[in-house]
Amino acid sequence: MKIENSVPIVLLAIPLFFMMKIGHTSPVEEHIVSYSGFQVWTVSTNTDEEHSALLKIVQLYELEVWKEAKPSNTIIDLLVPEPFQKEFGKKLSEANITFVIKIADLQKVINSENANNKTSTFSKSNSAHNMNWTSYHRLTDIYGYMSYLAATYPSLVSLINIGSSYEKRPLNVLRISNSSSSGTKPAIWIDGGIHAREWISPAVATYIIQQLVEVPANSKMFFDVDWYIMPVMNPDGYEYAHVYNRLWRKTRSMTSSPSCRGVDPNRNFGFKWGGLGTSKHPCSNIYKGTKAFSEPETLATSNFILGKANAIKLYLTLHSYGQSALIPWGYDVAYPNDYNDMLALAKSAVSKFIKYKFSVGNLAALYYRAAGGSQVTGLNP
Ligand SMILES: *[C@@H]1O[C@H](CO)[C@@H](O)[C@H](O)[C@H]1NC(C)=O
Ligand SMILES: *[C@@H]1O[C@H](CO)[C@@H](O)[C@H](O)[C@H]1NC(C)=O
Ligand SMILES: *[C@@H]1O[C@H](CO)[C@@H](O)[C@H](O)[C@H]1NC(C)=O
Ligand SMILES: *[C@@H]1O[C@H](CO)[C@@H](O)[C@H](O)[C@H]1NC(C)=O
Ligand SMILES: [Zn+2]
Repeated sequence: MKIENSVPIVLLAIPLFFMMKIGHTSPVEEHIVSYSGFQVWTVSTNTDEEHSALLKIVQLYELEVWKEAKPSNTIIDLLVPEPFQKEFGKKLSEANITFVIKIADLQKVINSENANNKTSTFSKSNSAHNMNWTSYHRLTDIYGYMSYLAATYPSLVSLINIGSSYEKRPLNVLRISNSSSSGTKPAIWIDGGIHAREWISPAVATYIIQQLVEVPANSKMFFDVDWYIMPVMNPDGYEYAHVYNRLWRKTRSMTSSPSCRGVDPNRNFGFKWGGLGTSKHPCSNIYKGTKAFSEPETLATSNFILGKANAIKLYLTLHSYGQSALIPWGYDVAYPNDYNDMLALAKSAVSKFIKYKFSVGNLAALYYRAAGGSQVTGLNP
């Protein structure tokens, strides 16, 4: 699968969050999910008619869309379970829609990229930490690396625990700042791993940390700016995706439906909560939760950022997959007052990327409407 060499989507916004209380009960047992026989198809359409025909067929089989972009890009990736493959292929051919099989056996690819999938990992090693950027790492390694940096560079790095996940894992933020007096400089916030299966996102967040802290030539990056980086905003989901279900996206909280757990944390933020592109069904991958900030992960993140609202000038949240820098709003095709400033900033940033060409634009315009996202927000909601 393309996950390992794709670069995550970046969402830009200036934050303003809303707060609420949490609630939860105890975990239930789960089974390992196999994607044996599942395929990923890349489907291209050339006309509006073909595109709407495709969407109808996708809806008919309730296929999961892995990647979609519009209007210019009419190529989408779809997860196609074995029982539908024949019929779906036939329907596409009848509609003159071309497709290629991108991944012939999804579980095979999962196994090759997820060797480290035992129930618990306590990586034993003689080195100070286990992090590298050639494999995906379990939470223990990521948190171990954050602790290592805080212990090794105490005047530059501090580890901040901002709360606990539903399953009581710590929610950790790394502060990188060379000023002893906190809060005097403008700050940049970056988070990763809000969606459990988007593993490249925590990998990129930890890579940014590594580049800032361990590469002396980059030290000017923190002369005038403080950094707050949270590589794994949804640690329960992240671990669950390693051990039980590679395609897990949501948190792991109990819902009103005993067989369906988790809330989409990126539909659980307060701004326009429950609007377009969200679901009230606990089994949905875009389940909004029972109320805004029902999840301890989104609540703790929001509270922390709100507490630094005067300092934090830039909010970046990393997703995968696709090469896009996406700008608010997301709840609808609507533009904040400072949209053009953010657009210019994003364009300037992606112009530096050499290997991948990024598209830049409004989230709802380029992808889909999604209310209650973390990219929330903005000064004039
Ligand atoms: C598909 O293409 C064929 C040959 O070009 C044409 O006869 C047919 O009408 C097309 N079908 C659809 C659904 O567009
Ligand atoms: C990187 O980390 C992974 C996971 O812990 C490990 O299996 C692999 O050997 C490491 N790679 C290198 C080059 O050290
Ligand atoms: C900290 O930042 C200041 C600029 O604000 C710079 O002059 C100084 O060299 C930096 N210190 C370190 C240790 O990087
Ligand atoms: C973990 O890896 C083993 C060996 O590759 C594989 O059989 C198993 O299905 C994997 N589990 C998950 C959850 O991917
Ligand atoms: Zn995502």
